[in-house]
Amino acid sequence: MTLRDQQINSQMEAVRGLYDGSSYYIETHGCQMNEHDSHKIATLLEEMGFQWAPEEEADFVLLNTCSVRHSAEDKVIGHIGRLKHEKEQRPHLKVGVCGCMMQRDESRNYVLSTFPHVDLVFGTNNIFELPRLLLEMGEKKRAVSITDEYHTFDDQLMIGDRNSVREYVNIMYGCNNFCTYCIVPYTRGRETSRPVGDILEEVKLLGERGVKEIVLLGQNVNSYGKNLQEVVSFPELLRQVHEVPGIERIQFLTSHPKDISRELIDSYGDLPKLASYLHLPVQSGSNDVLKRMNRHYTREQYLEIVAQVRRARPDIALSTDIIVGFPGETEEDFQDTLDLVREVRYDSAFTFLYSRRSGTKADTMEDQIDQDVKNERFQRLLEVVYAIQKEKNEALFGTTQQVLFESVSKKDATRMTGRTSGYKLVHAPYDETALGKIVPVRIEGGNTFSLEGTVLHG
Ligand code: SAH
Ligand code: SF4
Ligand code: F3S
Repeated sequence: MTLRDQQINSQMEAVRGLYDGSSYYIETHGCQMNEHDSHKIATLLEEMGFQWAPEEEADFVLLNTCSVRHSAEDKVIGHIGRLKHEKEQRPHLKVGVCGCMMQRDESRNYVLSTFPHVDLVFGTNNIFELPRLLLEMGEKKRAVSITDEYHTFDDQLMIGDRNSVREYVNIMYGCNNFCTYCIVPYTRGRETSRPVGDILEEVKLLGERGVKEIVLLGQNVNSYGKNLQEVVSFPELLRQVHEVPGIERIQFLTSHPKDISRELIDSYGDLPKLASYLHLPVQSGSNDVLKRMNRHYTREQYLEIVAQVRRARPDIALSTDIIVGFPGETEEDFQDTLDLVREVRYDSAFTFLYSRRSGTKADTMEDQIDQDVKNERFQRLLEVVYAIQKEKNEALFGTTQQVLFESVSKKDATRMTGRTSGYKLVHAPYDETALGKIVPVRIEGGNTFSLEGTVLHG
């Protein structure tokens, strides 16, 4: 992999001269893509001499934003407003805004025109330009850079230090699906796959550095490789990643049901390092609603995929995303969703109130649902989801699970936390020999959201 070019290296040196000893704080909204981007940005900043600090003390505060729901955007706008007052107290404070909101003309223009105290704005495809932008910002100008197209340099830049045991690796960017409720195709642009060679090189490097689990990231990993010169399928990519020494567990996000292949399902039988976990967003249990969402599968097809996956890997944990209150959703449609949840029995589900996003097709649909109805359905759905989640966790009491311990508990240094192969959160007494490794754990208890256990020795 070609690393940084000469120009970026010298810019980074210059930034170091300008900001050495400065501190930074990043607030991240949204999905794993943004989390991963924030991690890239933090790595770059630290290489340029910045040190992490809590927000109240940081010299540079960056908000990495999400547009997926109105509430996510509102939070950011409120936060930018608060930073104006903070800057009055601490005039040297620099404020940056990046991420998906900045990719949308409407939101970006609002921020640029309403908040003169914002010093830096960049988009999801401009991380590699950060050194140059910081220099510009240092000259007291407002620095802005947005592009629609993805540049592979962003990932090449990222080969700095990564020292956790579980790491994200981008395999593709953007989305071509245009689900009618969703803003992501408008923020992250068209689907582009990253070449296999680049991905493998990154995974190898992570393996050498002691990373045990990798999470392959894309909005729709099942359509990986379609735009590459030499077409490579996602299951083929998985097989190649499976060979990389050091990597013991592989997870991926997100898998769109419409593109899931027989080959991918078979991978659960063939590839032991593949985590026993599949996030398979269903969005709704009603065929009518699915159709209007432009999801391209029926409830029956979805249930068939679930059955096949469970045949290939009987202990697989399943999670999903569900939207409540999509335009025109009737009580009957909603009942279909509840029934589907009861039938699949998800290990966990991410539930969302439908949020109108301007520019999407669903925003122009008639029969928008009243907020009260949405809230009431949401509560009913949560009750069903949580009850099953609790039962699923209780079914693991007394079993032995392979747990990757990632960190010491934030609240209690005598405890550590990790994840099972099914991505369930496990707390256990701190054990130096187990931290950073996959070890057998006896599950002794737990609740709806996490499990308790002890590490087994010998
Ligand atoms: N690419 C992924 C997820 C992208 S966004 C996928 O297709 O599964 C994550 C989740 O946010 C979606 O699965 C959906 O459930 C939810 N979401 C997206 N747009 C939304 C909207 N306008 N209102 C409410 N939830 C939404
Ligand atoms: Fe949004 Fe659909 Fe693309 Fe997922 S697949 S990012 S929900 S448009
Ligand atoms: Fe993710 Fe939100 Fe962007 S969900 S892709 S951060 S709009």
